[in-house]
Amino acid sequence: MRISVIGCGYLGAVHAAAMAKLGHDVVGIDVDENKVRQLQNSEAPFFEPGLPELLHEAQAAGSLTFSTDISHVEGSQVHFICVGTPQAKGEYAADLSYVEDAFFKLAKYLNPADVVVGKSTVPVGTAGRLAESLRSLAPEAELIWNPEFLREGHAVNDTLQPDRLVYGAVTSDEENEAVARLDEVYADALLRSVPRIVTDYATAELVKVSANSFLATKISFINAMAEVCEVAGADVKVLADAIGLDERIGRKFLNAGVGFGGGCLPKDIRGFMARAGQLGADEALTFLREVDNINMRRRSRLVELAREVLGGSLIGKRITMLGASFKPDSDDVRDSPALSVAAQLQLQGAAVTVTDPFAINNARKRFPELHYLESTQEALEGAELVVLVTEWAEYVNLDPVTVATKTAARIIIDGRNVLDSASWCDAGWKYRGMGRPALDGRNSQMMASL
Ligand code: UDX
Repeated sequence: MRISVIGCGYLGAVHAAAMAKLGHDVVGIDVDENKVRQLQNSEAPFFEPGLPELLHEAQAAGSLTFSTDISHVEGSQVHFICVGTPQAKGEYAADLSYVEDAFFKLAKYLNPADVVVGKSTVPVGTAGRLAESLRSLAPEAELIWNPEFLREGHAVNDTLQPDRLVYGAVTSDEENEAVARLDEVYADALLRSVPRIVTDYATAELVKVSANSFLATKISFINAMAEVCEVAGADVKVLADAIGLDERIGRKFLNAGVGFGGGCLPKDIRGFMARAGQLGADEALTFLREVDNINMRRRSRLVELAREVLGGSLIGKRITMLGASFKPDSDDVRDSPALSVAAQLQLQGAAVTVTDPFAINNARKRFPELHYLESTQEALEGAELVVLVTEWAEYVNLDPVTVATKTAARIIIDGRNVLDSASWCDAGWKYRGMGRPALDGRNSQMMASL
């Protein structure tokens, strides 16, 4: 199948490479010349495990090309729209200008029976509106909305081995040729019996935002429990383990800490609230405002915790932040809790050093005023407080004894509750998790003996 992918960001670049891996002939289109040049050289423009190898393999086989020229979509039978839908400036709603721009440019090159497949996350109603336009621009072409559920850091695997396929189509009957064509694209997954749900446009659009809202709610739920644990002297990590054993609840996405960030969850719940308001269903989603508030409070809480462990003042205190990206295995710093906390600490007088295995370049562009060091060991030098904010494996596996030889004090805040608190306490550290009792050498031994 000849396929075009419009928009080569986190979603599109991975999708293009994965489709080529599945045996299709793919052209990726992006307006950003630098990005296209990098992709043509099999370099991923962002850090995503497995992507460079996939790009290299597909380009060596001649099944993947990239271009800034949208006319190169001509001849493809299926066209995926993978451009971003960021939060609009100054409001909650999503900015649809990139989707519309891509769609109307693409429409000029469509042939009869071509299928346009929207993958971007859009407000409910968008696909119906675009399908209406398509009827006059290219009457024989058809639109399917096929939301993407990939997670950064696992994007290659999530695209090649999806857990479900959702198609929003104008009709869900077996006669729909566009559905049959998309089935050909995803034949590999369908052969492995990956569930496929064919529905109307609105439901498909809502599946995506409601899934992300559910995940955000789950994280904020456990973070709300963390707030209660903090005042009650309880341990949210143990609480999550205990409630997570109930199969109806499940342990995944119940990790309390500094909260969620990234290019999806925060803007998707806000965009969803804005859209529900336009449709007159704002009351249905007022709880998402609280989800957002709880999430944002975690960042302030971490700043307060830092002040507390440093004796009441941040002024002049040397703080090392382990992590800048919004989650490990990604160099994405969009709405990163790590950077938001680092910037607040710095604004309140601390001397903050940020380190991260892959995200420093992106972080520096967003917060040039922060001090960055690539080497973890150098970043730890002289620190009066260490704060783990992104759970990269190399930070989780740090040896507390070795770290203590670098820092000026032995105080650590575990903003993701991932460290082995007992081994840090045994090495003489004062350990503070989020939503967990304060621990030092003495009470950690007491806890262990209970
Ligand atoms: C998310 C959805 O998971 C994915 O299905 C969708 O397609 C895009 O949005 P992503 O943004 O890559 O994916 O990150 P995700 O793994 O969901 O994590 C989001 C944020 O939540 C991160 O900041 C992470 O650190 C945080 N998180 C996650 C928690 O704070 N606690 C948890 O238990 C899980």
